[in-house]
Formats: sequence, C-alpha cells, structure tokens
Amino acid sequence: MSKNPSDPLKLRSQAWFDDSENPGMTALYIERYFNYGLTREELQSGKPIIGIAQTGSDLTPCNRHHKDLASRVKDGIREAGGIPFEFPVHPIQETGRRPTGALDRNLAYLGLVEVLHGYPIDGVVLTTGCDKTTPACLMAAATTNLPSIVLSGGPMLDGYHKGRVVGSGSVIWEARELLAAGEIDYDEFMEMAAASAPSVGHCNTMGTALSMNALAEGLGMSLPGNASIPAPYRERGQMAYATGKRIVGMVRDQMKPSDIMTREAFENAIKLASALGASTNCPPHLIAIARHMGIEVTMEDWQEQGQDIPLIVNCQPTGRYLGEGFHRAGGVPAVMAELIKAGKLNEKALTVNGQTMGENCHARFTGEPDVIFPLEKPVKDQASFLIMSGNLFDSAVLKTSAIDAAFSKRFLEHPDHPNEFTGRAVVFEGPEDYHDRINDPELGIDEETILMIRNCGPVGYPGSAEVVNMLPPDALVRRGVSALMCIGDGRQSGTSASPSFLNASPEAAVGGGLAFVQTGDCIHVDLNSRQVDLLISDEEFAARRQAYEEPNLESQTPWQEIYRSMVGQLDKGACLEPATFYLRVIDQSRVPRHSH
Ligand code: FES
Ligand code: MG
Repeated sequence: MSKNPSDPLKLRSQAWFDDSENPGMTALYIERYFNYGLTREELQSGKPIIGIAQTGSDLTPCNRHHKDLASRVKDGIREAGGIPFEFPVHPIQETGRRPTGALDRNLAYLGLVEVLHGYPIDGVVLTTGCDKTTPACLMAAATTNLPSIVLSGGPMLDGYHKGRVVGSGSVIWEARELLAAGEIDYDEFMEMAAASAPSVGHCNTMGTALSMNALAEGLGMSLPGNASIPAPYRERGQMAYATGKRIVGMVRDQMKPSDIMTREAFENAIKLASALGASTNCPPHLIAIARHMGIEVTMEDWQEQGQDIPLIVNCQPTGRYLGEGFHRAGGVPAVMAELIKAGKLNEKALTVNGQTMGENCHARFTGEPDVIFPLEKPVKDQASFLIMSGNLFDSAVLKTSAIDAAFSKRFLEHPDHPNEFTGRAVVFEGPEDYHDRINDPELGIDEETILMIRNCGPVGYPGSAEVVNMLPPDALVRRGVSALMCIGDGRQSGTSASPSFLNASPEAAVGGGLAFVQTGDCIHVDLNSRQVDLLISDEEFAARRQAYEEPNLESQTPWQEIYRSMVGQLDKGACLEPATFYLRVIDQSRVPRHSH
C-alpha cells in the first residue's frame, strides 16, 4: 500500500471493480469475472490486479515455455497479495512469420497498449523472448507507463552436433556454406539445424533474442540475472515466481517505467550491447523504446556511448559459447560488474527491484574468464558498432566484431590505406533477385565485389527483412571466400557474422541513395572517417535521381498498408510515427470512458 497507511493507494482497477459512486457500472464490470470462480471479496479487496502479457503460443515456440512459467508467476503474484490476469499478446515469431516478424513488433505493441489502457490492470509482467517480443513489450510499457517488469523465457540449452557446440541461427549460416561447397548433403544440413535447438527457449546464440533480453535487464526492467537463465533450468521457474512477487510491490510503490528507463539507463544499455557483441537489431529496437518513453536516443548515441567499450563476452556468433555458458559465467550482472569497475556505467540508474544497477551488480565478477573476459584484456578491442554515413545513406550500422579475420586481412589491413577499400557493386532488388542470380557467372563477382540489396527496408519489404547477410556465389565459397562486404537497407540476423552495412536509412523505397546505384558502380568505404560513398559525379547522381521512378509497393494485407503509411526509418527505430506522440497514457490518469 502507499507509504501512509491512513491514505490507501487508489488502484486504477478500482475504477472498474469498486466504484461506489457508480454501482451499476461496477456490477457490469465485476460479474463476468466471477464466472470462472473469482469472488467479490477478492475483486473489491483493493488487491492489485496484475496482467501477465503472454507472448507464448504454439505459433511462437521460442516463447511457448511462458505458458508453463505463468503458473509460477501467478504463485508469486498471489503470494504478494495480488490477483493475476493472464492475457495473450499478438504472436511474433522471428523465423516463421512471412514476410517478416518485424511487421508485428509495432502491431503487438499497439495491441498491448490498448489492453493495458483499456482493462482494469494495475501492473504487468511482460513475458519476453523471441526477437521482437522484447521491444514490443517494452515499447508498450513505455507508452502506457504502467508499473511493468520483464520476465524472459530464457535461451534454449546449448546445441551439439558431432561433439561440437552449435548455436541457433549461426549453425544455419554455416551449414548453408557447407551445402553450397558440396561438403554436406540435405539430410545433414537439416540435422545440423535441428541440433542447435535441443529444448524449449529462444535462440541460444547472442543473437537478437538474447541481446534484447540482456538489454532489458541492462535497462533495469527485469530482476538481476533474469536474461541468461536457460529456459529449462530450475532457476527460470524461481525467477518467474520472484518476478510475480516483485510486480505487486512495484504497484504498491507506484514504481513506473519512467523511473527506470531514463536517459542514463539507455546509455547503460548501449554500453552493455558493445560489451556483449549484441545484435545489429538492437539499435533500432532500443531507439524505438526510448522514443516511446519520450527520450531521445540516436544512432550517434550508439557511436558515442559504445565506441570505448570493448567486446568482452565470448559468445556466438562472434565468439564461442552459447546461453548456458554465458549464464554459468554470471550473465548480465558479471558484464555490468566489469563496466562498473572501469567506471563506465551510470551506477545510480534505478532497477525494478528498487536497488540501483550499481548496487545490484557491484563486484559480481565472473569465475569463468574464458566466457566473460576482463575489460582490460577483452576478446576484442574496438568492437562496437560503427555508425556510417555518406552519399548513399544518412546512417547504416556495421558490427565491427563480426568482420572475419580473412576479410580483414584481404582488405582492411592494407599498409598504405588501412581500413579503406573500394569495391565494385553488384545490385539485387531483393532476396528473390539475389537467389535467382547470385551464381550467374556474368555478374563477375570476385573477392572485391560489394553485394548490395535494396527495397528491403520498413516501407520497401514491408517491415525490413533480415536479408542483407548474402552468401557469396558457390564458386567463391568453394575457393574459401566465405564473406563479401554487403550493403543493404534491410537488416541482418543477429545470429549472423557477416561484414555488412545494414539498416541503411533512408531506404531505397523512399528515395534513399541505394535506389540510384547500378551494377558496376564503384563504392568507397572508409572505416576511419565512417564514410561509404558511391563514386559517381554529382551530375550523374542528379541525373539518376531525376530518372528515378518510385517502386510499385503492393501490400498483401490491410496491416501492411497501414504499417507502410505510418512507419519511420530504421535509424529512428522504425516506429509508427503517430504513436510516438502518445506518452504516459496511464500516468496522466486517462482512465477510459465507460463502455455502456
Ligand atoms: Fe525466436 Fe531466435 S527465432 S528467438
Ligand atoms: Mg532475426
């Protein structure tokens, strides 16, 4: 209850269930919740009603385990004196959803905002896991500003194939290379893929799912240690119980997302992302969460906050270990302890347990220095994202930790011009065009080719697809060239380690520079000045712009059309732009009008 016992906290849910001035409406609201056994005593007791935003379903196997975990969440809520109400969130499954799960992040967000605003809910447990489920839930928490806590489902157990650790997603990119090189057949390809997914849970690599759940913890929105606990471990159920208990306390203390997701918290999350070698999907998601919180976080912030933080987590796709190893090594608190020791963290940032990030993570150093390295002796220095610009785009992301050694040796370690190279572009209009033509010898693709793909951004695809990590032609793969530089206005899977310029904004479909590139053009890349430029004259550029015809974008569903009409670019978080004007819709006590 509120701090002064004589002044009991007026809960939002009481406006539905216990409005003594309006018995007619209270009766209407309350009676239907009796029909499965709830009592008047419970609903009019002043106990907080806690929503459990359920993202698990048969369609979202990465989060399906939350259907079981919810019973432990409910135990915790009841134990602390709350009443649980579980409800579904629009499913988002990263790999199964066509044309892309990215379309559904904003749809699930919208739906969740409406549920939290429109029903008698005092606080919410956000069940997260698969890539976009985490940002969708946090965006809704930001917009509503209802007391909220994140419970991750946790990664799958580590996968093994023929005695070797194989991580989800990453093994598929590797197996595709082996298949292209003729070293494995179709059956072994499928076996390798299946081996990486040995249990319930989300991707076990440091892909988008594990990265985003770690950043949720880094923001202070989950209990310490939450992100890394593998889904089947006993601690996962215990974390579910503790999370359910804690949200009731948060409601009583009226601790809101705006108390936790501050500018300082977002800076901490960016630093954590660098140390983790997090997915390139993190910048747009984190920017979107911040914008819905009313806090400006830009791509330049990613550059500035992230650049001094080395890679210290040795996880796939850039390193060796998977979720279980990361968890045993101490997970997020152990990484935070390193950042705190080096004075890199805003230690005062508040977290959901009522303690600061500094209090939670101070000296929680790892005992496994091969998984989480000390900051002064990292896995890799200078491994953060590089935010690039030039005449092709205002902003694109390069994950420097993902540049493989062979590629680096071939191009970036030139004695006269280190970190610079010029390549010849081969342009694809989308993934179908890429698959149709990549092995066409006429294209003349060699080691110095830059593969470019366009019309894959939020408006173009629609939704922005993970298609920029393009494998070289089979003939090159057979010669041992496993990666070419790629550029695209789409995204790349967080489980891929391709050296690519991603998320180019503005995208080709809205007249961004990629639209004007032709196969055979030269592109100059300079990592020192963070520039990527198309080497054509200004006149030629202007002429091509003049001759440009807008693509015919055909939407297949009503949502695709609505999404396209409102979505912003990836460097601004690919938000539904009108939604960013609605801040703290519950904080401002905008209880909705009665329904009858
Ligand atoms: Fe769902 Fe990776 S595909 S977590
Ligand atoms: Mg993905």
